[in-house]
Amino acid sequence: MNVINLKNRTVGSQYVATEILKQVISKPNAVLGLATGNTMIEVYKTLAALLNVNQIDLSNVVTFNLDEYVGLSAEHNQSYRVYMNAHLFNHNQTWNNKNIYLPVGDAPNIELESELYEQRLGEIGSADIQILGIGENGHIGFNEPYSSFESVTRVVDLTPSTINANSQHFENIEDVPKQAISMGLSSIMKAKRIILLAFGKNKQQAIKALLEGEVSEALPASILHKHPNVEVIIDDEIFTSLIEDGTL
Ligand code: GLP
Repeated sequence: MNVINLKNRTVGSQYVATEILKQVISKPNAVLGLATGNTMIEVYKTLAALLNVNQIDLSNVVTFNLDEYVGLSAEHNQSYRVYMNAHLFNHNQTWNNKNIYLPVGDAPNIELESELYEQRLGEIGSADIQILGIGENGHIGFNEPYSSFESVTRVVDLTPSTINANSQHFENIEDVPKQAISMGLSSIMKAKRIILLAFGKNKQQAIKALLEGEVSEALPASILHKHPNVEVIIDDEIFTSLIEDGTL
């Protein structure tokens, strides 16, 4: 696991966007594992601009997202589908809707939807690059603490900490869905290369716990220690705190 301080969100986002750009240039049918959350907004803004500037044909690029809230339709303004369209897919004309995968949060049978999603991932093959944010409690995707390292795509219950963190996007905390469909930890680990990004004070504890190195289901992100190609991109604020407390 390589830890890289890229100073701030802007430079970190430019790095990740550039890595994705290079990937789709070198492999026009690249498979990208995508994430949502505030962390990714600047990544997608930069990426969308770079894709346009380079006039990249994205029609053969395949993307799949980590997760979606249960109960939200693809049109709901807080669905991850709407987020992805708003921040990335609407900005380039050549994305091919047939190659864009997100779980359907309001599928009539969410267990079946989860199974089919995992099946589709198997058919598509592993992601060339999987990008990840991290929850304050160390979750990746919506794999909350004590998710099995063997887990695949399934319906998960969100913890109060995650509901609280994500309530900033909803009018009332009661409106935050209590469940999500999330790719599992073993599904995420299939990616060839993983880049995790964390910026700002509220991610310090999660990154500290991750870098302390104990691999435990109590900290879902710690599974990444078992992966051969992981970069953790942090900013100066997190880096400095890790130096000060002796983690690095
Ligand atoms: C959500 C998403 C995760 C994301 C995390 C952090 O719970 N399911 O994929 O990494 O939040 O989000 P943010 O970047 O907004 O801090």
